[in-house]
Amino acid sequence: MGSHKKDRCKKSKHKDRKRSKDSGKACDVTKDRVRAHFLDGNTGPWAKSLAAQKAQNIQGAQFDVSPRDGAHPTEAAAASASDRTSAVTPTRRGPDYSAPSSIDIVADPVLHALSTRRSISKVDPVTPNDSDLLEIIRSISSVADHKSLRPWRFLIIRGDDRHRLGDALDEAAGVVRKPGETNTKPLRAELLLALVSSPVEHDKVPEWEQHATAAGAGHLLELALWQAGWGVMWRSGTLTNTEPVRRLHRLNDHELLMGWFYIGAVPERYRQRLTTSTRPLPKPEQFLDTL
Ligand SMILES: Cc1cc2nc3c(=O)[nH]c(=O)nc-3n(C[C@H](O)[C@H](O)[C@H](O)COP(=O)(O)O)c2cc1C
Repeated sequence: MGSHKKDRCKKSKHKDRKRSKDSGKACDVTKDRVRAHFLDGNTGPWAKSLAAQKAQNIQGAQFDVSPRDGAHPTEAAAASASDRTSAVTPTRRGPDYSAPSSIDIVADPVLHALSTRRSISKVDPVTPNDSDLLEIIRSISSVADHKSLRPWRFLIIRGDDRHRLGDALDEAAGVVRKPGETNTKPLRAELLLALVSSPVEHDKVPEWEQHATAAGAGHLLELALWQAGWGVMWRSGTLTNTEPVRRLHRLNDHELLMGWFYIGAVPERYRQRLTTSTRPLPKPEQFLDTL
């Protein structure tokens, strides 16, 4: 990861030591502009070039990142010590955003990939091979997992197995087709990965935690594929855990099918759209609060 950053501005804590005054200044200005552009709701792998195009129009960004509901940091700081020791705190302080962040979600390749990820609903037929998949799985096997119970696995579905999935979905829905007709839903990609959550009995790890780990593996899978340049979309539906579909995936009673990841190459037309379109990120304040 260090090599990714070779040509980028040094992190601010090192900047005064490691580069000349002038180039340092230019770098900081660019970074601020990129950040301004990004936090303004323009995001994606294209954010940097957009920022460069519009750099002249962005003058010293001022961001409104005040805490939600108007809570003011100084009010939080002024809260009494007795409040802090009370088991039931009557007033909610809200987060304190008065100190700036040193985290740069544009410059950091991992954070940038996280924040720009998006689902690709129509993928091209080229897919990662099984060895690629193994590497992707290796990369996501770090998923947070209480007591390392490894309560998840993926099943590879390619070729005719997609027709078997279509038949199982039809059986579950009570759909009877004419000879030669087929359920085309599983054919929307050449490769599907089914995610199985497979909790075990454990006195310290409830079942819901193990489902959370499996879901985490699913989200990491999407991120890893995105970072590796593949398109993916997670799909499920009301038929996912019906008997015919569970039978096809050879699930045990305690297991849960978490849906399918439709995987393939990102179509050229979509790649071009990604370079010009912007999709605002949701306001992060809505996801963060205090007790
Ligand atoms: C568990 C799960 C199941 C999903 N099932 C479907 C689905 O069946 N059909 C669908 O259109 N989107 C489904 N989605 C949502 C898409 O995968 C995708 O997240 C959504 O279209 C938003 O796009 P984005 O990921 O680019 O934000 C599902 C998402 C999750 C996490």
